[in-house]
Amino acid sequence: MQKINSFEEFQSEYKKSVENPEKFWAEKAKSFLWKRLWDKVLDWDFEEPKVKWFEGAKLNISENCLDRHLESLADKTAILWEPNHPSEEAKHISYSELHTRVSRFSNVLKSLGVVKGDRIALYMPMVPELTIAVLACARIGAIHSVVFAGFSAKALADRINDSSCKLLITADGSYRGAKTLDLKPIVDIALESCPSIEHAIVLERISSKPTMKAHRDLWWHELIEGVSSVCEATIMDAEDELFILYTSGSTGKPKGVVHSTAGYMVYAEYSFRNVFQYEGNDVFWCTADIGWITGHSYVIYGPLLAGATTLMFEGIPTFPDAGRFWEVIDKHQVNIFYTAPTAIRALEACGLDFVKPYKLDSLKVLGTVGEPINEEAWQWYHKHIGKEKCPIVDTWWQTETGGMMIAPLAGITQLKPMYATLPLPGIQPCLVDAEGKEIIGNGVEGNLCIKYPWPSMIRTIYGDHKRCNEVYFSTNPGKYFTGDGCKRDEDGFYRITGRVDDVINVSGHRIGTAEVEDAINTHRLVVESAVVGFPHPIKGQGIYAFVITSDLNGPSELIKSEIIVEICGHIGAIAKPEQIQFVNGLPKTRSGKIMRRILRKIASGEKENFGDTTTLLDPEVVQQIVKSLN
Ligand code: WT7
Repeated sequence: MQKINSFEEFQSEYKKSVENPEKFWAEKAKSFLWKRLWDKVLDWDFEEPKVKWFEGAKLNISENCLDRHLESLADKTAILWEPNHPSEEAKHISYSELHTRVSRFSNVLKSLGVVKGDRIALYMPMVPELTIAVLACARIGAIHSVVFAGFSAKALADRINDSSCKLLITADGSYRGAKTLDLKPIVDIALESCPSIEHAIVLERISSKPTMKAHRDLWWHELIEGVSSVCEATIMDAEDELFILYTSGSTGKPKGVVHSTAGYMVYAEYSFRNVFQYEGNDVFWCTADIGWITGHSYVIYGPLLAGATTLMFEGIPTFPDAGRFWEVIDKHQVNIFYTAPTAIRALEACGLDFVKPYKLDSLKVLGTVGEPINEEAWQWYHKHIGKEKCPIVDTWWQTETGGMMIAPLAGITQLKPMYATLPLPGIQPCLVDAEGKEIIGNGVEGNLCIKYPWPSMIRTIYGDHKRCNEVYFSTNPGKYFTGDGCKRDEDGFYRITGRVDDVINVSGHRIGTAEVEDAINTHRLVVESAVVGFPHPIKGQGIYAFVITSDLNGPSELIKSEIIVEICGHIGAIAKPEQIQFVNGLPKTRSGKIMRRILRKIASGEKENFGDTTTLLDPEVVQQIVKSLN
């Protein structure tokens, strides 16, 4: 696929993409390996919603990631793996080796009875086998559902059960900085309540010798022994489901976002090449975990579709010290580096002594994703990491969008700190007001919607198409609603201001307030709770919980710690609140709705100026909460 090389070209491509989207995308799709070409580029109706791209086409995405490159790139490093411990050797896996290993593992899955359409859950550390397992699922048409390995047993079980996964692929444990975490015992608890799981394939990573349940649990290394490395890829329809990825929304139940094959594939490579301006033998490093969409699209699919070298990192930014990222960049001569603002802020706080020992002269492009980046962090990243010569691409997108939507093209689009800048050709954003009316012109602010389909957009919520319609397509009929607030400045540049719904963005991870409240409310001495986000210097947003307890002895540190245990058990440590405040009442309207606007203000330190509180059932409650703080 050709990339855009100048701003003039960008503008003309954008124009073409709006005037004739079908022609535009058909052109982009040409360079892939198709078993059959499409009959129709796009068929859509946002009312249902229905979105179908490249209908009639047949293909396999793993073939496009691997087989397609074997002629010219067989020996090129596909995965460059850097382990958690710097003393362990890095691994270079070439395209031909990756092809072999994916094919072999595909045969393993087949031998366990996995067939096209089956759902497979993955719960693994950041090791090459995770990428191999993902691609093997895709190769045989199984739908992968990767669950971030930081989630609790209950969260894992909920996700497995929601889509009745047949198989779980996991590991005995993982290395995270100085810690060794046992995953298998968590899996064992989860699987007690997962009747659909027939087998768990366990990769040995930490030599922990876990208990293996007879007939159910199988070792990865034993399964692959002697298995053929020839596996013809299953031919898929363009709209066959490729994967499910769970993400939080405004209710307690996470949504299984479904992406389909052809559209996701085309957009993953297209966005990767253009935003990062990948060329030649560049080494690309996206630090995201594969448990999130960023890892799916820009550790695995985007780079491999483009025949790139993708660096996969098992560890954490602060181990053995806060210079690890920079050490790895020098060690592997990384050219393009993509990370989250929260990591930048955390490393900035550790001081320049951790940056100074490194040259960082291989870097050409820097990127950020996951949350708004503040001016200070942007400047620090630009100056101390990019040495003022690397463009920073601030990329706005979501689990539901599949790929980067609003982002500069590196070195091509004029940059503005804190702005995701302009939409990619093919993407038609718009701002709407509270009544859903489109806001025209520049120098305006509103809710961000997308008014025309793009290839990698969400197709449905697994098992709940109605909810997909309600959440994304009914608030602003005829448009996809993102849930984000946004400014469009005088030059037409976009700046995302944050969520406008009950979702908190903690360190670039989405957490639903309702999910945390549900977890807190399971504590036997909790009557009610309300959770909001508040500005946090490193994490972007922190979690603040207001809790009413029925304990006759009143609030105590013990209940606090038990509540935290409850949250870790229901969701995982990522959802731990920064603050738990016990209160006697919550600000509610006469209809019983909690006024979160007020709680958000209190959580961010505001002591007065709560705006109009006349609709509250008991306006006194607000002052009581503020007073109980001191
Ligand atoms: C939400 C999506 C897809 C990337 C990983 C997060 C926020 C994402 C930016 C950005 C400001 C951003 C939005 C969005 N977000 N990127 N560059 N600037 N905000 O994926 O978990 O689906 O979260 O992250 O609020 O809606 P996600």
